Amino acid sequence: MHKKVVLLPGDGIGLEVIHAAKDVLEAIASQFNHTFEFETHLIGGSAIDTEGTPLPDHTVEACQRADAVLLGAVGGPKWDQLPSHLRPEKGLLGIRKALDLFANLRPIKGFPTLLHASPLKEEVVTGSDLLIVRELTGGLYFGQPSERRDNNQTVVDTLAYTRHEIERIVDKAFQSAQLRRGHLTSVDKANVLESSKLWREVVEEKKINYPDVKVEHLLVDAAAMKLITNPTSFDVIVTENMFGDILSDEASVLTGSLGMLPSASLREDGVGLYEPVHGSAPDIAGQGIANPLAMILSAALMLRHSFGLNEEARRMEEAVEHVLERGYHTRDLHILNGMVVGTEEMTKLVVDFIYSLSSSEVTK
Ligand code: IPM
Ligand code: MN
Repeated sequence: MHKKVVLLPGDGIGLEVIHAAKDVLEAIASQFNHTFEFETHLIGGSAIDTEGTPLPDHTVEACQRADAVLLGAVGGPKWDQLPSHLRPEKGLLGIRKALDLFANLRPIKGFPTLLHASPLKEEVVTGSDLLIVRELTGGLYFGQPSERRDNNQTVVDTLAYTRHEIERIVDKAFQSAQLRRGHLTSVDKANVLESSKLWREVVEEKKINYPDVKVEHLLVDAAAMKLITNPTSFDVIVTENMFGDILSDEASVLTGSLGMLPSASLREDGVGLYEPVHGSAPDIAGQGIANPLAMILSAALMLRHSFGLNEEARRMEEAVEHVLERGYHTRDLHILNGMVVGTEEMTKLVVDFIYSLSSSEVTK
């Protein structure tokens, strides 16, 4: 299989972790006889510095021509004082919108060796395995242009959704639940917001098409609480953009390792952008100590969701599990009696595991 992949390292540790994902993908390509053609482009603060905009046209055009996009992270204190239309985050929001990546999948599953570092009691968090399906191109993030009125005395942000936008993300979530344990929790604020009332109506209408999925509705405040008190009660959560942003950060710490969580942002036809949930970590950037595993796991999601390479994706995930089980970890993680390694060493351990497979284990 031949695929074109655009790399958007972005800022901070984005550069280091993208490099790691590329090395691992090259190992997969060579073991399974694929070719991945890589092209690197600017986004975020690094694009502001060199081109004066967080999302240059050539970046958008390259992503539109690609089969999939890998993104490191954007942002950093260097650009915090810029006006909001010029901030690095605008690059990320802009590329999500330009590619129509409406479905953001954030799987959260603990690795057994890391669970002891969870802020929750181990017996509460053990067995939690959930998927947040976050709507990514609507809601407060993309309403009517925000504005300040009356000489800074009034501000307006708008939460807008079309029925179509709700329907397509709800369908995606039902389909995801069918592939998992068949349980969908729709999260809204239907006791207050009109957008949430329509959201709930759409979920009720759609559920007839998915009789094998059990649906429940939960208000977002209750959902935030239940994620902490009873995380194992969730399978798939579907929610609008801003609620999904907040709940996914909350859920990400359940497993004791934000540095391990990948995400996929998908368009209807399967084209996708893949990025770790963690940010650009400017405090440790350039030191060679960043954890590349969330980026590597994001590349595995790319193989699965955009290229349909399920076995290759599984191999990458197994490689990560294997390295952790042997006790290797980066500084952000804690493994009892483990050994701390840097970004490059961690990447090499994953790559070596992939190359160690005998040809009989490689089926394609
Ligand atoms: C995320 C991030 C972004 C978001 C920011 C950087 C704009 O927090 O991907 O969750 O809010 O979507
Ligand atoms: Mn976020």
